[in-house]
Amino acid sequence: MTITVDHRPAAPSGPPKLDREQLRRAQQDTLDTPRMKYSLLAKMMFKPVDLMYGKKGSYTKFAMLEIIARVPYQAWERMGYWAVHRHAGRSALAKRVFERIVEARADQDNEQWHLLIMQDLVQRTGQRQNWLLHKAAPWVIAFFYYHVSWVLFLARPDWSYRLNAEFEDHAEHEYMTFVAENPDLDFVPDPGTYAAEYGRYRSVADLLRQIGHDERTHKLDSLESMREPRVR
Ligand SMILES: [Fe+2]
Ligand SMILES: [Fe+2]
Repeated sequence: MTITVDHRPAAPSGPPKLDREQLRRAQQDTLDTPRMKYSLLAKMMFKPVDLMYGKKGSYTKFAMLEIIARVPYQAWERMGYWAVHRHAGRSALAKRVFERIVEARADQDNEQWHLLIMQDLVQRTGQRQNWLLHKAAPWVIAFFYYHVSWVLFLARPDWSYRLNAEFEDHAEHEYMTFVAENPDLDFVPDPGTYAAEYGRYRSVADLLRQIGHDERTHKLDSLESMREPRVR
């Protein structure tokens, strides 16, 4: 006998893919919007990153940022499973928590595509990465960020969401500013290495604008979650 499941929770498809015109407008919107006021904790991550990888954007710096970008989503996923277990006796609440877990996993996947794309661009442009700066340092910062994220989430989930919103705002501005500062990227074709999974864009500039727009979507989602930080 075959059982049909009508309402299987599908993984969210992730941030919307934009066309050329929308990507240009998205970039302009970001450049016209002032950055958020970053907290001390956020600055404690941005400062060493600027010192180690330079203030200006680069593929190697972005790859580093993408390694740490998925960390809060992993922390929230882990806390979510803990909450599902805790609320096992209240199935409706446990289900709503599980929906947030599914969202956190989709955002992790989206960040993972960003990382794969950045690593591909690093390799294609022949930039060198060394063990200390591109393996050990991201691990240390990710370790710190992971623990800050889950401890904050336990004590004040709204602060954990706020910290991620600041991180995403920073990433959004870094990508969009990098494209503005490198107009030649509009003439470099998108290599399309992950076209099947992430889409194909006209140029590397548009590919980076799409990633910048994803970061804005992540930021807005976190700001939205701040309004109802605890699932009820
Ligand atoms: Fe990202
Ligand atoms: Fe992001």
